Amino acid sequence: MDKFIIEGGHELNGAINISGSKNASLPILAAALLTGERVVIRRVPDVSDTNYMLAILGALGAHVERSSGTVIIEAANIHPDAPYELVRKMRASICVMGPLVGRLHQAKVSLPGGCIIGDRPVDLHLKGLAEIGADIDMEGGNIHITAKKGLKGKTVRLRGTHGPTVLGTDNLMMAAVLAEGTTIIEDAAAEPEVEDLANFLNAMGAKILGAGTTRITIQGVEKLHGCDYTVIPDRIEAGTYMVAGAIAGGTVKLRRTRPDHLTSVIDTLRDAGHNVEIEEGTTIVVSPGKTPKGANITTEPYPGFPTDMQAQMCALFATTPGISVIKETIFPQRFMHLSEMSRMGADSKLNDHTAVITGVEQLSAAPVMASDLRASAALVLAALTAKGTTEVTRVYHIDRGYEHIDEKLQALGAKIQRVRE
Ligand code: EPU
Repeated sequence: MDKFIIEGGHELNGAINISGSKNASLPILAAALLTGERVVIRRVPDVSDTNYMLAILGALGAHVERSSGTVIIEAANIHPDAPYELVRKMRASICVMGPLVGRLHQAKVSLPGGCIIGDRPVDLHLKGLAEIGADIDMEGGNIHITAKKGLKGKTVRLRGTHGPTVLGTDNLMMAAVLAEGTTIIEDAAAEPEVEDLANFLNAMGAKILGAGTTRITIQGVEKLHGCDYTVIPDRIEAGTYMVAGAIAGGTVKLRRTRPDHLTSVIDTLRDAGHNVEIEEGTTIVVSPGKTPKGANITTEPYPGFPTDMQAQMCALFATTPGISVIKETIFPQRFMHLSEMSRMGADSKLNDHTAVITGVEQLSAAPVMASDLRASAALVLAALTAKGTTEVTRVYHIDRGYEHIDEKLQALGAKIQRVRE
């Protein structure tokens, strides 16, 4: 298991490229199952989650080639049975369900287990598929789905107690593209990654309107074809390095971004007193403000503040003068990073899904353990300014979603080493 050794207190300066989006790539790779023709997908980040997804597609019978960021998939002969050993490694493997049901009218996928960031049910995914004609059976921890008479478009409302569902919207959209008639998803997730999937499906010949809003209309077509598609930049990776710039800049330039996908993060960093500028449309430049101050954040579905940036902001506010209040509404238990950060001297109190952080002057190095992807990123950010040398163990969590984070931080001047044990 690898670990990171991070010497705190070095200013970050310079420019790096932001990778393609992990959370857009995962459903897009799965959607390649909807055609037997050759699909080329570019800027797929080389992270372990995309590699798990490619392994699942291979196990389903697809021919997969990867050369750096470009992935070529040909799913001419596939079967509907996703293997448990691979599916259990990644919750997002649930998104092969929609394409399998759409194309083969059957799927067998293991029920994803619990998750460190809290309950992650799939009731809305199943409700969506059932409403357009799928029969669902649970047996031995597996979901068996069949649609013997095919799928039939319908209006489906997809809202749960914590709001819309990103991968649930994706699954229904991927099944509905080959259904008979028109499916309308009300209360759809409006995240840029959902819109990117719709753009990919449309490039394959689907007829989808309204993706990126809360009402998506999908007119079923008979067949999809191959295409060549480039994934959007990763807004959460960009947001994470923006926080790195605010915590430890210097001046940090992030190239190849979509600033329009980052409005709430940019506004929050500016409210907290930091400098954020956009250059030439796609480069974000961040430097620490002279008088940073705490801020209040509530995580919300897009375009609200993303839950996937909550942990990183906690790292920033840990050393920002004043009191910051962070309310998590999407995954109310997603605060594992706070107890690890308290080992570094952070002052936080958790009360009913809300964290109150009182900024301290400086954190101090301590051995800490990564618990999930974004919590791990937050620990790395905290370590960049902590006094002394921090050891972050279990960095396989961070490798799930950040492409070469150690190399990118080194390019900015951070003293971070990956140690293989
Ligand atoms: N929910 C239900 N029933 C369902 C599905 C979801 O109640 O059937 C609830 C969830 O428990 C949660 C809320 O709805 O409270 C939203 O969950 P959502 O389904 O939108 O999450 P997801 O699609 O499983 C994706 C991202 C997550 C990101 C969330 C929210 C991918 C692969 N994952 O998950 O990303 O936090 O949307 O934006 O796209 C990450 O990258 O670190 C990550 C966890």
